[in-house]
Amino acid sequence: MSAVRYYAQPQKVEAFATSLLEKAGLPPEHAKLMAACLVQADVRGVDTHGMARLEQYLSRVNNGLVNASPKLELVEKTPVVTHLDGDNGFGFVVASKGMAEAIKRAEVYGIGMVTVNHSNHFGMAATYVIQALEAGMISLVFTNSAKQMPPFGGKETLLGISPFAAGAPSKNEIPYVLDMAPSVVAKGKIRRAARRGEPIPEGWAYDKEGKPTTDSNIALDGMMAPIGGPKGSGIAILMDIMSGVLSGAAFGGEVGDQYKEAKPQNVGHCFIAIKPDVFIGADEFKSRMDTLVQRVHAVAPASGFQEVLFPGEPEYRLSKLRSGQGIPYAEAEKKMLDDAAASYGVPSLEFSETPLAD
Ligand SMILES: NC(=O)c1ccc[n+]([C@@H]2O[C@H](COP(=O)([O-])OP(=O)(O)OC[C@H]3O[C@@H](n4cnc5c(N)ncnc54)[C@H](O)[C@@H]3O)[C@@H](O)[C@H]2O)c1
Repeated sequence: MSAVRYYAQPQKVEAFATSLLEKAGLPPEHAKLMAACLVQADVRGVDTHGMARLEQYLSRVNNGLVNASPKLELVEKTPVVTHLDGDNGFGFVVASKGMAEAIKRAEVYGIGMVTVNHSNHFGMAATYVIQALEAGMISLVFTNSAKQMPPFGGKETLLGISPFAAGAPSKNEIPYVLDMAPSVVAKGKIRRAARRGEPIPEGWAYDKEGKPTTDSNIALDGMMAPIGGPKGSGIAILMDIMSGVLSGAAFGGEVGDQYKEAKPQNVGHCFIAIKPDVFIGADEFKSRMDTLVQRVHAVAPASGFQEVLFPGEPEYRLSKLRSGQGIPYAEAEKKMLDDAAASYGVPSLEFSETPLAD
């Protein structure tokens, strides 16, 4: 097991990913958007949902399982509620359009809601929360995903470990960015451990028989553990209601598994954007958010903690660091990116074995 890390500059990684995705047939603006989402995940330290997934996405589009150039069709239901058919496009492209449409409606009416079907895996849910924050909006983001987890009390997978995300802007303090899978960890963390040849902590996952395991490869074939038993299971069901049942997408264990099944995933999403101005005014809202952040930060740390952080703060700090030092990739990830460059005939990404200068 190698602990060597290879650092790459985020802008260069984005340009590299854009070239690969264009070679795979995506229109330039879609390739750029998807590349930016992947790099944003890596920069924020959510490297389970960044470039490490590119090989799999390229293979899906090459095999005709994802539409490289979807026609995104909107069906207006009411002035504030719209449905978007993702035409089996990449989740990043479809979801960005979904959130953009929710924001557009919230700008005018104070709230906008968009349901989405015929989409695919959309990566890090915080991406769409950050998109809403940039427009000054509070947001709620829902998605569903392939079955990985049993409902509470069950021994068979039925539920996705679909992340719930929410955001709220602040004035001078850090914004609220909650992005959480209803499982103890995201499956990407188990996939990364398996790729790196590392074990996983007990409590993350079960084997096929429902027994706890620390073997990342056994866990990959087994089941994910929900957070808080019935609570995590209940949130996972809510994700399926908002994203699947309501939108017309697949639900209840029928979302395609992008790693195992050669069929379109038919993932569903739901995006809600809320303009704080309509309630107490944008400025007052943001000032009150600052107060909330300050009060959270001022709480005395418990034993074993140095400080109390706001949701999204660990990722925010990492993004500051990685923007300067570069994104650290493991040997296996570097090899995957080098192989992709060779097979698509694009110049390899530049790596440094030491952190880059700020
Ligand atoms: N698209 C999909 O189908 C899918 C499925 C599962 C997970 N994911 C993604 O995987 C990523 C990881 O998910 P996860 O559940 O493992 O996240 P996580 O457990 O790393 O973090 C969950 C939340 O806790 C916050 N947090 C962490 N440490 C904190 C601290 N010390 N103080 C305050 N807040 C803190 C984080 O900011 C985050 O909002 C997410 O980006 C998620 O969207 C995607």
